[in-house]
Amino acid sequence: MSQGKDRVVLAYSGGLDTSVAIGWIQEQTGQEVIAVAVDVGQGGEDLQVIRQRALDCGAVEAYVVDARDEFANDYLVPAIKANSMYQGRYPLVSALSRPLISKHLVKAARQFGGSTVAHGCTGKGNDQVRFEVSITSIAPDLKCIAPVRDLALTRDVAIDYANKHSLPIETTKHNPFSIDQNVWGRAIETGFLEDIWNAPTKDVYNYTDDPTYPPLPDEVEITFEQGVPVALDGQKKSVLEIVQELNRRAGAQGIGRIDIVEDRLVGIKSREIYEAPAAIVLINAHEELENVTLEREQARFKKRVDLRWGELVYDGQWFSPLKQSLDAFVDSTQLYVSGTVRMTLHGGRAVVTGRKSDTSLYDFNLATYETGDTFDQSHSRGFIEIYGLSAKQAAARDARFGRGLQL
Ligand code: ARG
Repeated sequence: MSQGKDRVVLAYSGGLDTSVAIGWIQEQTGQEVIAVAVDVGQGGEDLQVIRQRALDCGAVEAYVVDARDEFANDYLVPAIKANSMYQGRYPLVSALSRPLISKHLVKAARQFGGSTVAHGCTGKGNDQVRFEVSITSIAPDLKCIAPVRDLALTRDVAIDYANKHSLPIETTKHNPFSIDQNVWGRAIETGFLEDIWNAPTKDVYNYTDDPTYPPLPDEVEITFEQGVPVALDGQKKSVLEIVQELNRRAGAQGIGRIDIVEDRLVGIKSREIYEAPAAIVLINAHEELENVTLEREQARFKKRVDLRWGELVYDGQWFSPLKQSLDAFVDSTQLYVSGTVRMTLHGGRAVVTGRKSDTSLYDFNLATYETGDTFDQSHSRGFIEIYGLSAKQAAARDARFGRGLQL
């Protein structure tokens, strides 16, 4: 593939900016464009319609892939195992899709002979970092460009270009928000949300109904095997099916609405609204099952690993050595994370009401205050004596030097 050396592989959404980018890149760089569209459950148009539009806009090849199961099994499952919540609140909706899309961009570059990868991100966000760091972490020989950032493809230029070349794409529809969505959730920013005192209006939401007026409570049993969700209400299902069903059921209860000012990697604080019903339910259920099945010290240490894992993924380091090592640690903790968690979904909240596991470390006879108690309370006296000894010695010294706690 000798001509392959001058081809650009473009992450194509089917929307205005990336449709114009096809011709724009060819004009600005003299290179042919291969469009790549990856279905991660963002909904909307059929992949074949998107494929045809890419070709109609001048792409020499169009690669489309339904990657929804791959996304669920290889990206959402690790996120569930690591209870991933950036800044304690954001389940990494966009951050998880970028490495998968990057992988398919590299695959297309290899298949059709491309030396450069292009994406539609601006120069201010996290996603440009995630794409480019992922791509060069998989394929260090590839170059990256972002037409909006590097080739002056502004919104006005895009509208003029599309009209002038009669591209088969709507140029009048103006969405007040910037939205990214997939099967793990939806991220909404810009517009009036940039004033962080402004409350989100109803039209911001799409995956969730208003939790103020919920339907009757919905009880769900979620079964995990070694940290992987495998069944709902006793019915075996794929991870994708579980996520889709929980999005419907928890979404109907208004679960998973998040309003946060977050720290982007590029140093900007930004206000984002998220909707992630299934993510909130699954991570809460998984965390509770870990409470039942993980040994205390392993559980405490894992919390720190989970935190770092989430930061690395947020920061675009999915394919990095440290992230891979943390994956190995997280996987090693999941050996006994099997069992079922029962939750009530209602009015914006997912509440755990029961758990059962054959690999549980919960021992009724140790925990009970009823008769049959097997815990020898007489041992606690000596334990506390020694456990508190070093702090007691320090307090006695403080008292000698007149620095005891003033009462
Ligand atoms: N701030 C989020 C992140 O960095 C979401 C970005 C997605 N884009 C959007 N238009 N809301 O992961």
